[in-house]
Amino acid sequence: MAVDLLLGLQWGDEGKGKIVDVLTSDYEIIARFQGGPNAGHTLEFDGQKHVLHTIPSGIFHEKTINLIGNGVVIDPVIFKKELENLQKHNIDYKSKLFISRKAHLILPTHRLLDAASEASKGKAKIGSTLKGIGPTYMDKTGRNGIRVGDLELENWKDKYRALADKHEKMIQFYDVNVQYNLAELEQEFYDAVDTLKELQFIDSEAFLHQAQKEGKTILAEGAQGSLLDIDFGTYPFVTSSTTTAAGACTGLGVAPNQIGEAYGIFKAYTTRVGSGPFPTELFDEDGETMGRVGNEFGATTGRARRCGWLDLVALKYAVQINGITQLIMMKGDVLSGFEKLKVCTAYNYKGEKIKHLPYNIEAENITPVYTELKGWAADLTGMTKASELPKEFNDYVEYLEKVLQVPIKVVSVGPDRKQTILR
Ligand code: IMP
Repeated sequence: MAVDLLLGLQWGDEGKGKIVDVLTSDYEIIARFQGGPNAGHTLEFDGQKHVLHTIPSGIFHEKTINLIGNGVVIDPVIFKKELENLQKHNIDYKSKLFISRKAHLILPTHRLLDAASEASKGKAKIGSTLKGIGPTYMDKTGRNGIRVGDLELENWKDKYRALADKHEKMIQFYDVNVQYNLAELEQEFYDAVDTLKELQFIDSEAFLHQAQKEGKTILAEGAQGSLLDIDFGTYPFVTSSTTTAAGACTGLGVAPNQIGEAYGIFKAYTTRVGSGPFPTELFDEDGETMGRVGNEFGATTGRARRCGWLDLVALKYAVQINGITQLIMMKGDVLSGFEKLKVCTAYNYKGEKIKHLPYNIEAENITPVYTELKGWAADLTGMTKASELPKEFNDYVEYLEKVLQVPIKVVSVGPDRKQTILR
């Protein structure tokens, strides 16, 4: 049985949590393969809103197995809070939440290092969520990291101590003002590790291979988006993991020829949090309207998201890198009321019209070339059938399909599970 993928195609915050939740009834296993608590996956149902950071979005479904794969980085402290929230809602997670022994741990000093690194960059800062993601992946590739499986060893605290001591020296090296009380942070960390150890640690690649053999349906749930990919994103303003399709292979141990459908998810417009290039960013009333109507505030940090028109050059790039087979368009409802809609179909780059993402996409090099489409006035949020959608909305979607050459199979018209229309 092939493994399907769900990937964000922009700068994250496309609405993956909602769609995984909607798709979950079709899958027996949902697996996260990269990222960590920098992600904030929001799910709304039965009048309640839930935000997940590390735990896969299938956790609210009774029978779904949720796997945190080897490519994920876990902060036990944040993880414990997520578990407490699940307990509050009487979710029995222990029987259906598995963690790869090869997943790496975020230590309190990783968070401090993240803060020190950002502070030292001044204006050039990445806009990191400060969850320690970069320093943890640095220790992973530097072959110094502590993995979940290490917690089963007698001497794991010695390993921890050696690494934390090294981190303290590195924090001093940055020569910036980062205030902390390590003893307190460590106590909180050790308590949280005890909670983490109550869960099932597994050799997740073997588990998945067996599940595939048994014909189980598996969905790999991406975090962040393709334009934040460590290789293919707008480097250095990216996250530290492989957010594209290849990340599911390395982050779960799934072979490339075992990938089935690749669902790509995007918003009907574009948003970005943190720093970095964003060619179609708006600084006017239109951008302000998108932010207000779309409630564009980060689920993890609460930061206001930057908003702009849909960038089809960047979206096509993401479709190609990931081999997307089906598209899902989110937040179409937010564009209701715009008389005209713009989509970026090319860039003017250093005096030349180009249709690909160049190496250097800083604002001074690029101006977007827009195509204008007619907007629609109707409120979409109460619609449940494709036949109810206005003509101009369908024209917008069909235009995108023509450019992207991939069908848009699902459109979302509101945050609730029920506000999802199949085309
Ligand atoms: P980090 O992953 O926390 O180091 O942040 C690096 C960049 O990725 C920053 O611009 C963040 O705002 C952005 N980022 C990280 N996670 C997410 C996410 O889940 N949604 C949107 N942006 C994110």
